[in-house]
Amino acid sequence: MIDQCKLIEFPQNGDERGHLVIVEGNQDIPFEIKRVFYIYGSNKDVIRGRHANYNSEFVLINVAGTSKVKVDDGTNQKIFNLDRPHIGIYLPKLVWKDMYDFSDDSVLLCLASEHYDAKEYIRDYATYLEIMGKR
Ligand code: TYD
Repeated sequence: MIDQCKLIEFPQNGDERGHLVIVEGNQDIPFEIKRVFYIYGSNKDVIRGRHANYNSEFVLINVAGTSKVKVDDGTNQKIFNLDRPHIGIYLPKLVWKDMYDFSDDSVLLCLASEHYDAKEYIRDYATYLEIMGKR
């Protein structure tokens, strides 16, 4: 499952006026976008996320600054660097994710396939491992 976590390079339509990056639901990313949220003002030593989702898929884009995303499927782990505004990471459902190492200017844009529902979040790692059949 960790192999389904993939960096996506979005089309850029920049010209002499500057950059313009396009992210179309169901085209540049593999789901329809139902929710958008963004994270900024997190200190370098903060770890956010620390959860998995039963239903939601996500694409994360550092539209400003940089951060790292560690993904974990209970067996394998992988670290992605979000360091350019036209690069995103696709996260399938049921992947555990930590976001960390935020730069001072980091604005992490999150596109989600589902509306917010607290019940579809798995926030306890031991429970996650049980769900993934690892305990
Ligand atoms: P949280 O899931 O802890 O953020 P992250 O995983 O990105 O660090 O969310 C922080 C709070 O905001 C928590 O009380 C749930 C709430 N929240 C919503 O109400 N709607 C949303 O779409 C999101 C992402 C969070």
